[in-house]
Amino acid sequence: MVFEFQKALKILLITFLLSLFFSCSKEKQTQAIDIQPLEISSWWTVEGENNALLVLQNQFLEENPDSSILNSYMAGGSGAIARKLLFERMGSGTPPDIFQILAGKGLINSSVKMGQVESLSFLYEEMDWLSLYEPDILKALSFDGDLYAVPLNIHRSNLIWYQPEVFNELNLEIPETMDELLVLCEVLANNGITPISLGDKLSWTALHIFENVLLSVLGADRFLDLWSGNLSFQDTEVVKAIEYFIRLIGYSNSDHSALSWDDALWNVVQGNGGITIVGDWADSNLISKGLERGTDYAWAVFPGTSGLYSWLADGFSLPKGAVQREEAIEWLRLCGSRKGQSIFNSLKSSLPARQDIDRSIFTEYQLSAYEDFKSSRLIGSVNHGVLISDDVWFLLLDIVGDLVIHRDLSLAQSSLENLRKEYLLSDV
Ligand code: GAL
Repeated sequence: MVFEFQKALKILLITFLLSLFFSCSKEKQTQAIDIQPLEISSWWTVEGENNALLVLQNQFLEENPDSSILNSYMAGGSGAIARKLLFERMGSGTPPDIFQILAGKGLINSSVKMGQVESLSFLYEEMDWLSLYEPDILKALSFDGDLYAVPLNIHRSNLIWYQPEVFNELNLEIPETMDELLVLCEVLANNGITPISLGDKLSWTALHIFENVLLSVLGADRFLDLWSGNLSFQDTEVVKAIEYFIRLIGYSNSDHSALSWDDALWNVVQGNGGITIVGDWADSNLISKGLERGTDYAWAVFPGTSGLYSWLADGFSLPKGAVQREEAIEWLRLCGSRKGQSIFNSLKSSLPARQDIDRSIFTEYQLSAYEDFKSSRLIGSVNHGVLISDDVWFLLLDIVGDLVIHRDLSLAQSSLENLRKEYLLSDV
C-alpha cells in the first residue's frame, strides 16, 4: 500500500515536472517566433571594427526596443570570406536581412546586376539624402539611375603604420619613394627588425600591398588604365612595380601566412616589425586596445602616393526577400543618419560618408584624414570593391597569393595579362 502510494506520488511528480518543462519550452518557442531577430551580416569581427558595429547596433536597439539582432559574422577582412558566402546565400534564396557591402563594381556587377538587391532610391528621396553624400561614393552605389546601398564611411587604404620609438632610435625617415622604402627595409633588417610585417592568412592583405606599389610606380592615371584593362601587365613600369613587390615581400616575416592583418599590426607596435601596410581601420584597432596615437604608433602615406587618397566605402544593402524587411530599412535609416554616422565613424577611424557631420567630434586621426581627403585626388581601391568585380577580385587574389609563395615574375605577368584580356577588358 505504502509502495503503491509512493509510486503514484512519483508518477504525479514526473507528470508535473514534464508539463512544467513543456510549458517552458513552448514559451521559448513562442518567444522565438514573436521576436524574429534582424539578421545583420558583416565581417567586422576584429577589435575596433567590431566595437564600431556594436555601438551602432546598441543605438538601433535603443531606438527600436522591441527588436533584437542576430549577428551573422563572416570573419575575414575585406570580406574575403563574406563576399563568397553571401553570393551563395543570395543564390539559394536565403539571404540575411541586411548585409555589409563595399561600394563599387564589387557590389554592382554581382548582386545588383543579378537582381538580388532592392533599389534604395526611395529611401534617399524619403530621407532627402541625395545632396548629403560624397558624389564619388553615390556613383559607386548606382546602377541605371538607382541607388543600391547606404554608405556609412570612407576609409583610406594607401597608408603605412610604424612605431615612432623604433624610428627615432634608429634615426629613420619616412620613405617617400619605393627606392627609399627598400633602403629603409635594409636598415631595419640590419638592425634585427623584420622590415615588413605581413599577415596574409587571407591573401587580400598581400593584394593590398600590391595595389599600393602599383599606384606608387604608375601614378593615378596609368593605375586606372591598368585596372580598366587598357594598360598591359607587360608594360615596363608595371613589371618594375611587380619586381618591387617581390622585393618587399622578401623582407616580410617568415610566419606571414599564419597571421592576419591585426596580428601583423600588433607586431609593429611591439617593435617586432618595421612597418605594416593596411588601411586606416588599423587606427581603430589600436585605439580600442588603449594605445596612444603618435606615441605607441604612427602612420604615413604609402611612399610615392602622397596627394592621392585611395578610398573604399563600407555600407549596407537590402537583399530581395529579406524576412525582416521593415527592420532592415530602419537599420539603413540609422546608418544614413547623422547620429549613426557620427557614433560609428569615430570608433571606426573612417570619415563619415555624409558630408554634413560636425567635425568638432572628429578624432585626431579623422581630422588629419579629412584634411588629406579634401586636398587629394580620390582613387578607388582595387582590393576593396571599388574598381573591379568580385569574381575578378577572387582570381586576382589567387594570382597575388601565388606570387607571394613562388615570387615568380614571369608566371605572375602572364597570369595577370590573361586576367586583363579575359576579364578586365569586359569588366565594365
Ligand atoms: C575592409 C573594410 C574595412 C575593414 C577592413 C578589414 O574591406 O572596408 O571596414 O573592416 O576590410 O576588415
